[in-house]
Amino acid sequence: MAEIDFDPFDPAHRADPYPYYRRLREVAPVWRSPRGAWVLTRYRDCTEVLRDARFGHGSRQRLLDKSNWRRPAPSHAMPFILLDPPEHTRQRSLVNKAFTPRRVQRLAPWIGRLIDTMLDEAVDRGEVDLVEAFAHPLPATVISELLGVPGPDRELVRGWSRLIARGVDPDYQQSPEEKRERDAALASMDGYFRELVAERRARPGDDLLSELIAARDAGSALTDGELLATCTMIYVAGHETTTDLLANGTLALIRNPGELKRLRDDPALVESAVEEFLRYDPPTQLTRRTVLADVTLGGHPVARGEQVVLVRGAANRDPDVFDDPERLDVGRAPNRHIAFDGGVHFCLGAGLARLEARLAFQALVTRAAELALVSEEVPYKNNLTIRGPRELRVRLAAG
Ligand code: HEM
Repeated sequence: MAEIDFDPFDPAHRADPYPYYRRLREVAPVWRSPRGAWVLTRYRDCTEVLRDARFGHGSRQRLLDKSNWRRPAPSHAMPFILLDPPEHTRQRSLVNKAFTPRRVQRLAPWIGRLIDTMLDEAVDRGEVDLVEAFAHPLPATVISELLGVPGPDRELVRGWSRLIARGVDPDYQQSPEEKRERDAALASMDGYFRELVAERRARPGDDLLSELIAARDAGSALTDGELLATCTMIYVAGHETTTDLLANGTLALIRNPGELKRLRDDPALVESAVEEFLRYDPPTQLTRRTVLADVTLGGHPVARGEQVVLVRGAANRDPDVFDDPERLDVGRAPNRHIAFDGGVHFCLGAGLARLEARLAFQALVTRAAELALVSEEVPYKNNLTIRGPRELRVRLAAG
């Protein structure tokens, strides 16, 4: 096996991991990292693993194992993003009954107004941190509205979500303080949703949480523990990732002024532009799976119980699949990126994320005739798994 003299996951590469991913894909596309996990960077290998039932999450015990690549904090029930069929299938199909495309589409006019208000304020101020002024509060407000988190509680829940999202990274990448904060935030969120579930059981409203409580499939329903895990998962997954899509996409446009102009001149390109942001700089860079039966990967025997890490950021730039993959092309077609995954865990909220991002980028490029970075140095969050700028200071001006 080829020797790798660099760590592709070194925090020092956070601002631009892509040259390291490329080298890894070229030199050792199926690489056994020093921590023992198999790291896959080719599109073909990643998509095959995502669709193959011999790769999954394994037992609850394995998920809680501290030496594991990722250790979610214990809860009464694991969120179904970490479960295998048939348990995953049961919960997901119940959630599908409540989280329908119609429910998402109904929010569109309201999301459009929210975006206009936030962007008007940002343009009036002239210079803002676009993460704090727009990319973070927009999806947080939307997911709160969807789930039915009341207005006065939203700031509190948003704060917990940030800490939990940080905790999705492997434990070894986090300081003891970060781990403490994540666990405390998870406990607070659990307690919060426990009360909200009880309230909505007593007095159902017109929100996703009430629908989740009501959802029935062949007589089965989500238990209270499953509801709590589902609420936290939907809130965190639906929020932090969309923030990064908005921030990563804006940064990609600013750094590629020709593509920004193309989108301004032809806003109908917004659909393909959003898919391109997802391919070019995906918010979730990595996914882990456990090998559930002995297999062969790229000619290497891999035993049951071993860990596999899929690097989406690398697969999405695989030249075997994408022409000129290092180039941002807002009109790219076809574009079969794996930013939303590709198997049974395909993102539940892809429709909502696409809706928010299309409305947001359309409004941004039409409202802000000037859109420029205040400084070329963009600080990144510590996160490895969910990657995006910590702060994006921009100058905006109306036309
Ligand atoms: C740009 C935004 C988003 C990105 C890039 C994204 C990405 C992903 C990815 C890659 C997965 C699969 C994870 C894995 O296989 O390990 C996933 C699953 C999931 N996502 Fe998203 N997501 C986004 C937005 C959302 C939104 C808005 C919601 C909810 C409102 C959401 C809810 C979920 C849920 C519940 C799952 C688990 C699905 C399952 O296990 O069956 N996501 N997402």
